[in-house]
Amino acid sequence: MSRVRVVDHPLIQHKLSLVRDRRTPPKEFRELVEEMALLLAFEATRDLHTREVEIETPLMRTRGKSISGSGLAVVSILRAGLGMEPGIVKLLPTARVGHVGIERDPRTLLPGVYYVKLPEDMGQREALILDPMLATGGSASVCVQLLKERGTRRFKFLCLIAAPEGIARLHTDHPEVEIYTAAVDERLDAHGYILPGLGDAGDRLFGTR
Ligand code: PRP
Ligand code: URA
Repeated sequence: MSRVRVVDHPLIQHKLSLVRDRRTPPKEFRELVEEMALLLAFEATRDLHTREVEIETPLMRTRGKSISGSGLAVVSILRAGLGMEPGIVKLLPTARVGHVGIERDPRTLLPGVYYVKLPEDMGQREALILDPMLATGGSASVCVQLLKERGTRRFKFLCLIAAPEGIARLHTDHPEVEIYTAAVDERLDAHGYILPGLGDAGDRLFGTR
């Protein structure tokens, strides 16, 4: 579990309780997912490089630090990763944004890729992959593999809830991926849903069920 960072800040844990609650309607659910993503990104970007810059305040010259998002690509796994994207791009307005559409087969739980649109220079970028749920780990693993084929070498996976099974799978396939999550839950149920979890993230974000 050494490459797993559980972000236990009280703000994120409070919001996690609200997104778990079955009574939280889609509007609030979307707002909470966006806010949690922003808080997760705050932790996941701690190691961003900064450079010294000269600044003139109204009173005098001084020095400060500046970062650029130019070495990053935010990659949302459709659909549910879209719910996290606004929070992250607010923090990293200059990062490029890619999308990978992946859907689990409800029977086999195997991931199927149906859409890929990524920045051309993925080989020069660190990927921040967004998906609220790491369940069996199949979708995350396929996404990392796809990015590796385009040259990406550094990965952070940001999710709201991870199952132990998903963490094990992702780290067996791709040990270098750093996982940032608000919680590591108990286990998967017979249908591949995380327990206690929050239900189906895509359906709750978009009100489809
Ligand atoms: C959900 C979720 C992840 C995936 C996790 O998406 O958003 O992408 O399942 O499961 P895994 O770790 O077992 O692969 P889903 O396939 O339901 O698609 P959706 O976002 O379009 O609803
Ligand atoms: N996908 C979800 O949306 N929720 C789960 O619990 C597992 C996979």
